Amino acid sequence: MTHPASRALLHWYSDHARDLPWRGTQDPYAIWVAEIMLQQTRVETVIPYYTRWMARFPTVEDVATSSMDEILRLWEGLGYYRRAHHLHKAAVKIVEQFNGQIPSSQKALKSLPGIGEYTAAAIAALAFNHDAVALDGNLRRVFSRLLDLEIDPRRPEGERRVLSWAEDLLPAGQASAFNQSLMDLGAMICLPRLPRCEACPLAPWCLAFEHGTQPLRPVKKPTEPLPHYYAAAGILRRENRVLIGRRPEDKLLGGLWEFPGGKQDPNESLEQCLQRELEEELGIEVNVGAKLGEYEHTYTHFRITVHAFFADIITGEPQPFDHLELAWVRPSEFVRYPMGKIDRTIARQISGEIL
Ligand code: ADE
Repeated sequence: MTHPASRALLHWYSDHARDLPWRGTQDPYAIWVAEIMLQQTRVETVIPYYTRWMARFPTVEDVATSSMDEILRLWEGLGYYRRAHHLHKAAVKIVEQFNGQIPSSQKALKSLPGIGEYTAAAIAALAFNHDAVALDGNLRRVFSRLLDLEIDPRRPEGERRVLSWAEDLLPAGQASAFNQSLMDLGAMICLPRLPRCEACPLAPWCLAFEHGTQPLRPVKKPTEPLPHYYAAAGILRRENRVLIGRRPEDKLLGGLWEFPGGKQDPNESLEQCLQRELEEELGIEVNVGAKLGEYEHTYTHFRITVHAFFADIITGEPQPFDHLELAWVRPSEFVRYPMGKIDRTIARQISGEIL
């Protein structure tokens, strides 16, 4: 028997579902790509990337046979680049081991690179209507309020209580609409700061609404301040070309190109930092010249300010000790090389300033 709250929710969804490009399809490939892009990323940010991706790679075979460079160029700006590597590896595995078909069981889905508990449940529910709950931040917030949950829903006991209530509400065979209705409710009604309870189909069953405790739910653990790092990057020029290196795959921004350099150690100046880093990474000695600029970016676990300097080689020929490969590139060709936000900004500035 469908719980009256679920009936109210699905009824609301039939009138208010967001029109998103990955809706209206049961193609597990399309849903998989959307779910990967939506990890840690806002729907509005994902839409143009998703549309471009599906136009370029309409099937899993298209991903499997593409070069990593092309995939990274399409991904550039979306962040969390490991996701792009995982998509490629998983596509190859699906073609080789699953006959080109995305598996439907959560266990098989989780055997694929980049697919964890949440994504496996989301694909199983959205593409195959398997009775699964894909517990993301939106659903945690909705259920924390429905239950007026006095503990953090990310902790094991909190998650157990949320999942247990969600599974009780899940109408058999309707997991796709059920999960997506909760995602939309979380995105449009059960908002983090100012929930629109007057428009909520679940208000009659919501204990936080009854108790007036919506702003207190979900309970969060206090956030630690982010560490702030400082780094130096070198712009090395030779005959109208500039040196860039490709980062190792297993690091942050893996497979992307960068201007060589690294983090400042305590008790060294940025110029000393650049000299040391270029010696360690490339085996060269440099004179540090003028500063091009300072660039700041916040990642999930830290913030970084990169100071970019022109530098001249005094001794040695650059070797890829820390990079997968090095390339001397004309600034007009930088666009062909996938880069993270900071390096792309530096590259654009160089293209405008020199040559
Ligand atoms: N967030 C994660 N998955 C989503 C989906 N399928 N639709 C909307 N928002 C989402």
